[in-house]
Formats: sequence, structure tokens, C-alpha cells
Amino acid sequence: MSAPALLRAKAELAATRPDLPAPVVLVPTMGALHAGHRALLRAARAAAGPDPSGGSVLVSIFVNPLQFRPGEDLDRYPRTMEADLAMCAAEGVTAVFAPPAAEMYPSGSPEVTVDPGPMGRVFEGEFRPGFFNGVLTVVLKLFHLTRPDVAVFGEKDAQQLALVRRLVRDTDLDVAIESVPTVRDADGLATSSRNRYLSAADRALALTLPRALRAGQARAAAQDGRNSAAAAAVRAAAADVLRAEPALAVDYVAVVDPHTFGPAEPGPALIVAAVTVGGTRLIDNVPVVLPPDGPADQNTERDFLGAADH
Ligand code: PAF
Repeated sequence: MSAPALLRAKAELAATRPDLPAPVVLVPTMGALHAGHRALLRAARAAAGPDPSGGSVLVSIFVNPLQFRPGEDLDRYPRTMEADLAMCAAEGVTAVFAPPAAEMYPSGSPEVTVDPGPMGRVFEGEFRPGFFNGVLTVVLKLFHLTRPDVAVFGEKDAQQLALVRRLVRDTDLDVAIESVPTVRDADGLATSSRNRYLSAADRALALTLPRALRAGQARAAAQDGRNSAAAAAVRAAAADVLRAEPALAVDYVAVVDPHTFGPAEPGPALIVAAVTVGGTRLIDNVPVVLPPDGPADQNTERDFLGAADH
């Protein structure tokens, strides 16, 4: 595969954009690309069409200062441009837009930004105030600059994905959003650029997070019949696993509606959780299906009380 064009300036992007064969599929990233990103790039190439002359994959690499609070890891966030470009070349990426911060925010912090609304103030939004404001602002800018037909996001950042879909709907953006399931390493940890901060001991501890989510999933799968307490039982199963590991600092564990991040309804839902391990904050989620509302059958109720008593 040939090397993608590397565009550093908005003017270069503007000059190149008209020559990109349609459909143009955007993968927004902050670089430090890993196996999860590779899955996004492959999904983007599939959406654009396998023939590079019949569709384009555009990747943005930009560590967006707006989505980091003072004291977070903006300065030490991994930057691996050479390896990122090699992965992009191997996956048939047409062009990489990698601007410096001054190109994206010439006047420093922008005065006008995107308010993510109520969904942006819970869970990640509560623990990282301003985070989704920064994410949606840069995503909107990238959509304007690249004018993609399709944009691809990972399901690991489930709340970000739900908010991007909401941004598109609420502001009538003409872009289709595609999502790609979370990629996990062999030990079960969801791939993330921040995993490289983890020591071997931290990593062993971090595996409690996917284990907790699997416990919640197993609890959901064991529900049969009606159960209006199903979401609480699923949450309790996951929370019990996290609680058993006191070295983990748990920000939240919850069962939510995947579109609103409000309380889960019967049907498809997500177990979402965030923990900090040795100074590294990790988020993860898994899908579950909650049974219809109604009184639990006796076994289900007894199981739930058992878990809660434990
Ligand atoms: O998911 C990410 O890597 C970032 O939040 C994004 C969407 C590229 C915006 O900076």
C-alpha cells in the first residue's frame, strides 16, 4: 500500500479534499494507534470500498487540548506519529490530517464551543467536567474541515459515540456515523492508548474491570422471565467484583440506556464502568439485554438478594 498524504494545515486539507474520491470516510483519532484503531481503519476502508480510487479513508490525528483538564495527561499523552503513519499505510488510508494545536485553535481556547447537553454531564461528563464539550467541539470542527460522508467511532467510548450521534441529529449534520465493537487484548482488557501507562502489576489489577463487566453480563444472561429489578441485579454483580479489589478506585458502575445514558429500559442496555489503577483511568462497557419489566420469578429474586447480601 502507498503512504497516505500527510496534511498538516487546514489549507492543505482544503486543497486536497476536492480530489478525494467519494465516499470519504473519516476516522477521528488522537494517534497512538493500536489494535482498536486498526479495526476502525478496516471498517472505514470497507465503508469506502476496497478500491482506493473508488473511495477515501481520511484519518485525523490530533491530541485535542480542549478535552483535557489541567492536571490530566495532555503532556504525557503518547505521541507515536511514525508508527501511526505506518499503520495507516498498511490499512489503505488515503490521507492523514495531523494539524498542530495552533492550526486548530489559532486564538488559543475557542470562545464558542459545543454544549453536550444533559447526556454530557453524567458519568464521564461528571468525572471529567468539560470533557465532552471539548470532544464535540473538535469533532464538529473536523466534520466541517473534512466534510466526510461517513465517520467511524469505537464502541469502547460508548458515551462519546452516543453524544456524537446526538450532535449529528440535533444539528442536522450530513454525515453517517458507524460504530465498531470494542477490541480486547487476549487477557480481556479493552485496547486503549492509555494502557501503555500500566505497569505489569497495574495491568493485572486492571483486568478486574473486564471481569466485573463479564460478571454483569452473566447475571443478565441468567435472567429469565420478567424482572423489574434486573438492571439493579446486573449492576450489583459487576459492582461486587470491583468492590472485592480495594486497590481499584471506582468512579462509577451502572447499567444505562445506550442512546441516552439514562436509566436502562428492558431490552438492549450497556454496563458502563470507570476505574483508576495506579494513576491511570480506564473506562469500559459491555452490551446486555434486560428482560421485560414485571415481578421477578422466585429464583431470580433469591439470586438478586443473595448477591446484595454478599
Ligand atoms: O476518541 C478519541 O480519540 C477522541 O475523543 C476524538 C473523537 C478523536 C476527539 O478528539
